[in-house]
Amino acid sequence: MAIRPIITHPNDVLLKKCEEVTEFDTKLAELLDDMYDTMVASDGIGIAAPQVGEAIQVAIVDLGEGQDIIEMINPEVVEMEGSEIEVEGCLSFPDVYGEVERPFFVKVEAQDRTGALYELQAEDYEARAILHEIDHLHGVLFTTKVVRYVELDELENEVEEV
Ligand code: CO
Repeated sequence: MAIRPIITHPNDVLLKKCEEVTEFDTKLAELLDDMYDTMVASDGIGIAAPQVGEAIQVAIVDLGEGQDIIEMINPEVVEMEGSEIEVEGCLSFPDVYGEVERPFFVKVEAQDRTGALYELQAEDYEARAILHEIDHLHGVLFTTKVVRYVELDELENEVEEV
């Protein structure tokens, strides 16, 4: 396990449509473990493979709070509901925060690190983090969705980066 450097904007790898994962091997497991270490070391609650320079469909979300780590390989959104505007931050955009409108509820189909298909439901900030990461896998950055940028001294609470 290792901490990898985080790719920050601007960088072409952040704008790529990521490749589907077909090999569920030790290399993938290593990448997932490294992504987790990198996310924790950066105080993030989510990270996508292009943020460590790999343009493949792999992402992690971990809100802490004693919940399981969500590992998503080849994730697909199958249902969305509601809408909420919240401040977001991204590990690839240090000190940039902005309000983004996203669905309140999401249902996702993905594979785990063994290749097994599973379904996941989430709401509120967990749904937001999941959708932010899935956007990364399509080369979509949160700055393209910001409705209003927020200055650091305007933030009421610490914003978790994803
Ligand atoms: Co991000």
